[in-house]
Amino acid sequence: MAKVTIIGATGQVGSYVAHAVSQFPHVQEMCLYGRPGNEQYLDGLAHDMMDSFAARGTNTRVTFGTTPKELRGSDIIVLTSGVPRKATQTRLDLALENARIVKVFAEQVGRMAPEAILLVVTNPVDIMTTVALKYSGMMPHRVFGLGTHLDSMRLKACLAEFFNVHVSEIHTRIIGEHGDTMVPMWSATTVGGIQIDNLLGVAKLPREEMIQRVKSSGSYIIEAKGATVYGPGDAIATLIRTIVEDENRMLTVATQIRREVFGHEGVCVSVPARITRGGVFPIGVKLSEEEEQMFAKSVKLIRDTTENVCA
Ligand code: 2OP
Repeated sequence: MAKVTIIGATGQVGSYVAHAVSQFPHVQEMCLYGRPGNEQYLDGLAHDMMDSFAARGTNTRVTFGTTPKELRGSDIIVLTSGVPRKATQTRLDLALENARIVKVFAEQVGRMAPEAILLVVTNPVDIMTTVALKYSGMMPHRVFGLGTHLDSMRLKACLAEFFNVHVSEIHTRIIGEHGDTMVPMWSATTVGGIQIDNLLGVAKLPREEMIQRVKSSGSYIIEAKGATVYGPGDAIATLIRTIVEDENRMLTVATQIRREVFGHEGVCVSVPARITRGGVFPIGVKLSEEEEQMFAKSVKLIRDTTENVCA
C-alpha cells in the first residue's frame, strides 16, 4: 500500500492525476498538498474529489495538506506546481519563475520525506528535476522527472497510426530534453519486435516530419485548448502505478546521469531507466553517432539553463 502526495492538485494536470490515482487499488492515502493560506484551494479540491468519487466511491483516504509536516509518510510525491506555459512561450521561458517554486517545495520534501520518491512534472521539467535534486538533498535515485516519457508515448501513437498496428506493437524511445532538442532513438524503434529499418514493403517513414509533430504537439494543444492535461496526466499516472505496483518497467524519464555511463554528468535528462518501488535507476545505452551528438546538445542546454536559474 502507498501514500501518494500531489503538490499542485488544483492545477488541471494535478487534478486529473488525483482522479486517476484515487482509482489505484494499492494507494491507501492521497494527500492533496498546496501552499498555506490558499483556502479556496482546499474548497476547490474537495469539490473536485466529490465530483470524482460521487459515482464510484474510492478506497483511498483523501487528505488535504498545506504544512510541510503533512508530507511525512509519503511514498511518492508528485510536484506539478508552477506557472503554466502559454502558447506563445517555450517551456524554457518558465525556468526562472518555476525554479523558485520548485526550490521551496524540494526543500520541504527533502526535510520531511527524504525517503519518498519525488516525481517532478513542472516545466521545463529536466531543469526543474535537476533543481529539485539539488535543493532536496535527496538520493539521486529518488528524484526523477516526467521528461520525455510523454514524448515517447506521443511518438508511439504516431508510429502506430503510420504502420496501422496496435500501439502495444510499437517500442520506441525519445531521450534528451523534453523540448526542441529531444532525441528520437530510431535505432531502438521496433514494430512487432522488428527494427524499423528491417521492415520490407512498407512506405518510407517520414521521420523528420513525425518528430516535428511530437515536438509541437504540446504547443498545438495549448494553443487549441489552453493546456495539455490528459496526455501528461496519463503519462504521470502510468509512472505512479509502475512505482506503487513495483512493476520494474524500463521507461524513459529524466534522471541524474553519470559520466562513466553516459559521458556526461551533473544534470537530470531523459534516458532509459528502471522504474521500481525502490527508486529510478538509469540504464546506459550505446547511441549512434548522430544520436550522441544530439544528446550532447540536449545535456548542454539543460546544464546551461540550470546554471542560470541556480546562479
Ligand atoms: C506537454 O508537452 C506539459 O510539457 C508538457 O504537454
